[in-house]
Amino acid sequence: MMTPFTTFIITFLSLFAMAISLPVARLQARDVFVPPILYPHAGTIWKVGNHHNVTWDTAGAPVNITNSIGHIYLVVHGLIDLDNELAGGFNILDGRVVIQVPDVAPADDYALVLFGDSGNFSPNFTITD
Ligand SMILES: *[C@@H]1O[C@H](CO)[C@@H](O)[C@H](O)[C@H]1NC(C)=O
Ligand SMILES: *[C@@H]1O[C@H](CO)[C@@H](O)[C@H](O)[C@H]1NC(C)=O
Ligand SMILES: *[C@@H]1O[C@H](CO)[C@@H](O)[C@H](O)[C@H]1NC(C)=O
Repeated sequence: MMTPFTTFIITFLSLFAMAISLPVARLQARDVFVPPILYPHAGTIWKVGNHHNVTWDTAGAPVNITNSIGHIYLVVHGLIDLDNELAGGFNILDGRVVIQVPDVAPADDYALVLFGDSGNFSPNFTITD
């Protein structure tokens, strides 16, 4: 039964919910930082065992980042291989981290994913042995 009083309560509660959710959504949008990976790029060929700098663009980083600790995983045939962390515990503002190419089967559809606030995928690239 919708009495005028319950209508009032519902209106009040939804306005209250909007008032608290709007600033939170804006804050997160401002502080989430998803830097694009610059290297490896499409056409990159890596050899198993070699060391390379993975690089990403840190331009436009907000002053306060929700989570500044980065992790890089290998993406194998489109699936993130969480057992294959290539680097972790570095600062997402560094813009680069050295990784060693893992001992995986040769393929031309590997990718990397860089996690900080959120995941960002590199283009597909090749690993050879
Ligand atoms: C990674 O980049 C740093 C800084 O440019 C450089 O000193 C280092 O030799 C590079 N390492 C590799 C494995 O390319
Ligand atoms: C960043 O965080 C510091 C410390 O919590 C705070 O004083 C500052 O106002 C924040 N800056 C922005 C732009 O949010
Ligand atoms: C990259 O590789 C994945 C996994 O094989 C594939 O699904 C995707 O279509 C490829 N992307 C491009 C742009 O070729």
